[in-house]
Amino acid sequence: MDSGTRRSSCFLFPIFIVAFSCLCSATSSKTLQTSTDKKNWERKKWQTSDCNRYEGSWVQDDSYPLYDSSACPFIRKEFDCLKYGRPDHLYLQYRWQPSACNLPRFDGKDFLEKMKGKKIMFIGDSVSLNHYESLLCLLHSADPDARVTTQSSNSTSTVTFQDHGVSISVFETHYLVDIEEEQIGRVLKLDSIKDGNTWKDFDVLVFNTWLWWYRRGPKQPWDYVQQGRFILKDMDRMVAFRKGLTTWAKWVDSDVDASKTKVIFQGISPFHYHGEEWGKPGVMNCGMETEPVSGSTYTGGSPLALQVLEEVLSTVKKPVHLLNITTLSQLRKDGHPSSYNGFKGMDCTHWCVAGVPDTWNELLYSAITS
Ligand SMILES: *[C@@H]1O[C@H](CO)[C@@H](O)[C@H](O)[C@H]1NC(C)=O
Ligand SMILES: *[C@@H]1O[C@H](CO)[C@@H](O)[C@H](O)[C@H]1NC(C)=O
Repeated sequence: MDSGTRRSSCFLFPIFIVAFSCLCSATSSKTLQTSTDKKNWERKKWQTSDCNRYEGSWVQDDSYPLYDSSACPFIRKEFDCLKYGRPDHLYLQYRWQPSACNLPRFDGKDFLEKMKGKKIMFIGDSVSLNHYESLLCLLHSADPDARVTTQSSNSTSTVTFQDHGVSISVFETHYLVDIEEEQIGRVLKLDSIKDGNTWKDFDVLVFNTWLWWYRRGPKQPWDYVQQGRFILKDMDRMVAFRKGLTTWAKWVDSDVDASKTKVIFQGISPFHYHGEEWGKPGVMNCGMETEPVSGSTYTGGSPLALQVLEEVLSTVKKPVHLLNITTLSQLRKDGHPSSYNGFKGMDCTHWCVAGVPDTWNELLYSAITS
């Protein structure tokens, strides 16, 4: 479709858009959390202790990194910063220090023992892949000679650590909800989550979606967006994000067997393209960053998307743990591949492996093994 056709189809829908936005604002005020909702949710989270492990600061620790990335066979070229010549190595030597307690160091052998016979799945965009590859490296380094099999089919890749029968999978989906080919084109279906049938057999599910919701132009992988009967050319992206998440939340309540499956949602993974967020106005990327922001607050503030995510999570009746990595990752302006990656573009979206995702996995480890 050329841009002329796009523009004219845009004009076909104003009435729907008006009707639709009324519908949306009605629902969004309904989902705004009351303090009771919030308290219930706080109770339901698996409290690993009374300590909030997500609040703290980065400290230098030369016993890090947790593994040698050149010995890890699972890192794709986009994340393998040392291989692609990153000259500064200080970024590898930070440990996350919660303010009120200590975070246990990742212990791969213990992880495999505790997760014996279990299946873990990461579900989401390339940030999930980032998280997954870091976990594979952490486990591989615990026993480099362990018998491992790998398998890929459709949207899923799986690595199984045979001796413990632990399988780690990643399922690639940009939005969690479906995109379907129809006569009019590719339709993003905010109400439908067919892939859920593949996910629900797993013991641990780690969800993430955010990166793609604001994509436009040739990078946008859909032509229309549908909610209920309404098919639109476009809509407010934050509203769409909330709708998609709400569909996911309903899926958790209707389809997940909470006695078997632990559900985790990874908080919004931040980008670093706006230096004013960390006190360097005019800086347009993370290319010169070699150290974290010190302290525990990020001047750029918390992203609106995290607030939307927290509001939607507070409506889920089954237990869901928010792996609340947003702030701690915001502090790591030095953690991205920048130009040291296998495609040579500037990347301040993904994260070097080894690096920040190892900490996400230390937090995941304490959330699921305690
Ligand atoms: C997530 O972390 C941020 C920053 O520490 C905090 O403001 C927010 O309340 C946390 N959210 C939840 C649900 O714990
Ligand atoms: C892959 O997808 C196809 C088509 O949706 C399906 O028929 C097939 O069973 C899937 N394969 C696996 C291994 O899930």
